[in-house]
Amino acid sequence: GFSWKLEDHPKLPKGKILAMVVLDGWGEANPNKYNCIHGAPDKWRLVRAHGKAVGLPTEDDMGNSEVGHNALGAGRIFAQGGSPKGRLAPNIVESQESSRACHLDPVLTPTPLRHHRCFWPRLSNDDYSRRPLNATCVVLPRIVQFVIEDLGLSSLRRCPLLSFLMGIGLSLQISVRAGSTPLLASFIYFAPPNLAKLVDLALDSGKIYDGEGFSYIKESFATGTLHLIGLLSDGGVHSRLDQLQLLLKGASERGAKRIRVHILTDGRDVLDGSSVGFVEILENDLSKLREKGVDAQIASGGGRMYVTMDRYENDWGVVKRGWDAQVLGEAPHKFKSAVEAVKKLREGANDQYLPPFVIVDESGKAVGPVVDGDAVVTLNFRADRMVMLAKALEYEDFDKFDRVRFPKIRYAGMLEYDGELKLPSKYLVSPPEIERTSGEYLVHNGVSTFACSETVKFGHVTFFWNGNRSGYFNSDMEEYVEIPSDSGITFNVKPKMKALEISEKARDAILSRKYLQVRVNLPNSDMVGHTGDIDATVVACKAADEAVKMILDAIEQVGGIYVVTADHGNAEDMVKRNKKGEPQLDKNGQIQILTSHTLEPVPLAIGGPGLAPGVRFRKDVPDGGLANVAATVMNLHGLVAPTDYETTLIEVVDN
Ligand code: 3PG
Ligand code: CO
Repeated sequence: GFSWKLEDHPKLPKGKILAMVVLDGWGEANPNKYNCIHGAPDKWRLVRAHGKAVGLPTEDDMGNSEVGHNALGAGRIFAQGGSPKGRLAPNIVESQESSRACHLDPVLTPTPLRHHRCFWPRLSNDDYSRRPLNATCVVLPRIVQFVIEDLGLSSLRRCPLLSFLMGIGLSLQISVRAGSTPLLASFIYFAPPNLAKLVDLALDSGKIYDGEGFSYIKESFATGTLHLIGLLSDGGVHSRLDQLQLLLKGASERGAKRIRVHILTDGRDVLDGSSVGFVEILENDLSKLREKGVDAQIASGGGRMYVTMDRYENDWGVVKRGWDAQVLGEAPHKFKSAVEAVKKLREGANDQYLPPFVIVDESGKAVGPVVDGDAVVTLNFRADRMVMLAKALEYEDFDKFDRVRFPKIRYAGMLEYDGELKLPSKYLVSPPEIERTSGEYLVHNGVSTFACSETVKFGHVTFFWNGNRSGYFNSDMEEYVEIPSDSGITFNVKPKMKALEISEKARDAILSRKYLQVRVNLPNSDMVGHTGDIDATVVACKAADEAVKMILDAIEQVGGIYVVTADHGNAEDMVKRNKKGEPQLDKNGQIQILTSHTLEPVPLAIGGPGLAPGVRFRKDVPDGGLANVAATVMNLHGLVAPTDYETTLIEVVDN
């Protein structure tokens, strides 16, 4: 039967104190003026943090904190959301000697990761390394890959012929796993295990409409309005425009006669300024629905960072602003059209921070407040920034702000956002089950754990790390500490954020010798990187580097081990690039600042006085990604990882 007990590692001791540091949004790229990370050390290996390595559909999908922390914590790769068109990898990254000063001096020999597009879908590391490089294997998939991805024709994947081929691929994949021939392998490209995202699958197959969640909201269609609330972009981190489009179509075909869309503009996972285009596309779709007799309109809006999409209860005022506009139909700005609203409000703010607005009719009345008998769907599939609104929409008892009116509605999330809280109770698509995470294994195997970050990333090293599960596995062995983040400011104003406070907590936890794992997330490079403010981002990265130094000093004192890595890139490249990797100019000849994450690999540094001599990075896992870190860390705790975890990145050689 199943057992939580892990084997002892044959060569590595138990009982060493280990610091696990995640530098959020800290990727590796060649030094240039858009690279804000001045602290890169010159010795470490790189691991993949985007695309298939973290369960995203394509190599054009930039990484994000959810999938990054899921992979780090769970040690396996789960099918995740993602965008059909991410950003193209600008650089070939190889190991580079760097003269940049840094506090890290990992003792391991570096294994550079060649940052090429991978030809092969992910089966397992063994499949990768053993597959013979036979022409049949390479050429055909490469051509198809080129057509689909390099020409940006991701939508081709929806074509029936290709689906059919994928079906063949899928069955062939099974036979290949059983014993492969190179010829068969050529078909596999058509069937990457994680090609279809959960929501896409449910929408494409129509299964979403047969589920409990949709049946529930559908009961309101006859007499009530269907409200759709969510992030409007094709960023693919929290939501996707094409999924909204499909849902609009599907719901209207299934009886929704009155639909109101409440939009949140992005500019954070996509370029600032792109909101206007997305609103135009949506308006066009809605006008087509109106031609078909569906009363469909945009009802309200606002920028995601100022309206609705706060996270980890940092600032309920953000959710309240959204509530007032979406539910009560009240906002400081009133417009007849959403395109006009966004264009006008952009004069004073970026997409991320647009103030709330409502759309009003000729008589000045809001067109879409939420009232008794209506249905509401929150469109985002990613949880962190929807949980707060979900609570406001669902909880009878609620004291976070005055809702004024609490309409009796039927509410469903796109996904279940918190499996522990069972929130929301109704949802359209079932989330992936991420179970047996490393955190749970470690407490079962005697590794007491301390985790800490500031509010904006607190859930990343706890909730996401533990497979989207809130709370402790065993409160006797774990302590999670949240440092309140600054609220009401954009983080370029205070780029040092709470890095010092986090590192002090980590230092104290290490020196107390009460915990065998001390895990932190340092948010600076990501949170400030998202503002697009280059000077502030440099300050942010330095602050994170200082924090790392304090933690490493503590590890030095207790004879421990450190593991420093990141969840995805961001601050190492702050400019939008063309396919050649050159900075891209907008129509006014201005550099386009990149506020989003990147496709770059991230560092993985391991060291400290407690590291057994003879520990080396293995040379046979060149494509290692974030999911390989969990098994590696288990080894450093003196344990052998479960067999279905992605393989460890280290080995112990006899000296
Ligand atoms: C956000 O939610 O801030 C961005 O969309 C993604 O950032 P994260 O994945 O680093 O949290
Ligand atoms: Co981020």
